[in-house]
Amino acid sequence: MFGIKTFCIDLLDRNWRHRLTNDKLIRELMTHFKADERGHQANIDTADMGYGWLHYGLIRHLKPHRILVVGSGYGYIPAVLAQACHDNGYGHVDFVDAGYGHHYRRSYTWVGFWKTIEGQSIFRSFEMSSLSTFVTQFLMRTSEFFKKHNNLEYDYIYIDGDHVYKGVKFDVDHSLPLLKQGGFLALHDISIIDPMPEGSYGVNKVWNELVKKNYLVFHHPISGLGIFQKT
Ligand SMILES: C[S@@+](CC[C@H](N)C(=O)[O-])C[C@H]1O[C@@H](n2cnc3c(N)ncnc32)[C@H](O)[C@@H]1O
Repeated sequence: MFGIKTFCIDLLDRNWRHRLTNDKLIRELMTHFKADERGHQANIDTADMGYGWLHYGLIRHLKPHRILVVGSGYGYIPAVLAQACHDNGYGHVDFVDAGYGHHYRRSYTWVGFWKTIEGQSIFRSFEMSSLSTFVTQFLMRTSEFFKKHNNLEYDYIYIDGDHVYKGVKFDVDHSLPLLKQGGFLALHDISIIDPMPEGSYGVNKVWNELVKKNYLVFHHPISGLGIFQKT
């Protein structure tokens, strides 16, 4: 496990433990949005958000105006980012997903969720906080989104959509011009190099081409997260 939370708790005095995080809210959020524990190094039982902490911490610190998310299984990372905006009292997440299903490109892990009624209402139906006011869903391909919204500006971009090299490269190439100077671009699954049963991942190659400096990297065999700053 990523274990950031466990690490912090071990540093703290016993009396502090229950005040470190709102575990009830975290578990509710992770369960509601089906946090992928392996893919994000997270643990629902211990309310450890894994990579979610990195996103949450950066957003709480940077207090961005606008965030772009490309792709998600069931909304876990868009929800963490929206929760951070909610807790900042400021900011907004634009979430783009075409809602591809199993029939699409050797399936990968795509489940067609965003085209279902549940997928369309998932942010509204999370009752612990008014997350839905912090997220706008775009049910469309990134090619359509970037064509229609090429005048938008983002402070933080997270890409976890198409995992094939050509697709990741397309998303990165079209996102970067929308990213403000000093803004951050995060890529999920940068550590997957060997072909997986569902197909080959091209994120690692795109990541290596993208970064020369100003980056943070978290390698884990199943997934990995890279965060790059545009300077
Ligand atoms: C399966 S998710 C990635 C899962 C993720 N690792 C997680 O933790 O939940 C990838 C998503 O990207 C979407 N997607 C793939 N290619 C896309 C494209 N070109 N435009 C928009 N969405 C896309 C799929 O519909 C899918 O929901």
